[in-house]
Amino acid sequence: AEGFFTYDPGFVATAACESGITYIDGGEGVLLHRGYPIAQLANNSNFVELSYLLLFGELPSKEEYVNFEKTIRNHTMVHEQLANFFKGFRRDAHPMAILCGVVGGLAAFYHDNLDITKEEERRVSAIRLIAKMPTLAAMCHKYNIGQPFNYPRNDLNYAENFLYMMFGNPCEEYKINPVFAKAMDRIFMLHADHEQNASTSTVRLAGSTGANPFACISAGIAALWGPAHGGANEAVLNMLDEIGDDSEENIQRFVDRAKDKDDPFRLMGFGHRVYRNFDPRAKVMKETCDQVLGELGMADDPQLKIAKRLEQIALEDDYFIERQLYPNVDFYSGIILKAIGVPANMFTVVFAVSRTIGWISHWNEMISTGYRIGRPRQLYTGHTQRDYPEKN
Ligand code: SDX
Repeated sequence: AEGFFTYDPGFVATAACESGITYIDGGEGVLLHRGYPIAQLANNSNFVELSYLLLFGELPSKEEYVNFEKTIRNHTMVHEQLANFFKGFRRDAHPMAILCGVVGGLAAFYHDNLDITKEEERRVSAIRLIAKMPTLAAMCHKYNIGQPFNYPRNDLNYAENFLYMMFGNPCEEYKINPVFAKAMDRIFMLHADHEQNASTSTVRLAGSTGANPFACISAGIAALWGPAHGGANEAVLNMLDEIGDDSEENIQRFVDRAKDKDDPFRLMGFGHRVYRNFDPRAKVMKETCDQVLGELGMADDPQLKIAKRLEQIALEDDYFIERQLYPNVDFYSGIILKAIGVPANMFTVVFAVSRTIGWISHWNEMISTGYRIGRPRQLYTGHTQRDYPEKN
């Protein structure tokens, strides 16, 4: 369409947005949440406190934290009728398919008379979503394996409650493993928010139409599911299974396949749209992986050995160096989740539980600061105008 396309300044304006929640420097490998470095938060804070920071902009005082944490605990149950929603799915439905449907369905329970222009009503919606996501996620897993749903417990913290709802069953007392609970909380923290990634941008675009927050989060879950985005953690485990053993020639063979344009094989958990350096979350995730598997006596876990050798070889390979491809947040998270006992089809669900606080914080920021409907433009590459052929 040579000469047909005229530059439209609006094109750029609709593609970008302003936000003060998360800052990323892809070249330097920097990630700040409201100004605090992710490594400092991961090592000193917890997911509930980080959720408060992302949503309200400042770390909570002790009293604010206690009240916020208590409010979340008191909103973890879901409407009893929601349980019927699950029965409409096949038992073997992917948990992300169920989660996407059920979260969208929350609108049928909590959306009536919701006035999103009122800050208090936005806050209540945010609390409901933060509190209920672990419950719904665990219900997806229980539905998949044919076990009864576990009601949340108010005597457990956020990560402990999720583990209980996932793995507890009525036949025996479930003992919380503190190593698993700490690792789960760390994973929730490392996936909480990440600027304008594909799923957060989806939530913002949906929110810009004035859609209710439950529908917007459901749209974010759908976008996150893709293997190029949140689905990568599940894809990493499948890749490690495919690689099979950590022998040098075997791993080199897969690294060579990842470089071959004619081969669809890619190193899942490697590369990033923004980072052209180490993803700072991957560093913390790798430390957590070593801690958890070390404490479980699994330091020699075959998949961990493959992952570490794969990382070493790739980071020394010119193809990856030239393209600035480094491990991202998904490279080690799956190994930790598998060690905790989370099945691979639930990995992206865990990501969605965590990212809900990022999504709803961006939604809240956009609604509260005034917004126009998002309307990205395009670079038109089609036909110039032409007349419909006369009928003969
Ligand atoms: C997340 O945006 C976010 O912030 C996302 C996220 C978040 O927290 O929300 O960080 C979460 O989505 C992390 C990314 C998880 N996805 C994966 O790990 C899937 C594997 N990675 C690739 O699909 C890819 O790296 C992407 C999608 C992550 C990034 O794609 P880009 O930036 O568009 O990179 P590209 O496709 O332009 O690649 C540049 C080059 C290409 O080679 P050339 O055409 O230059 O020869 O690098 C190659 C690519 O072929 N390449 C890879 C590769 N990733 C890119 N080659 C082999 N293996 C890979 N993983």
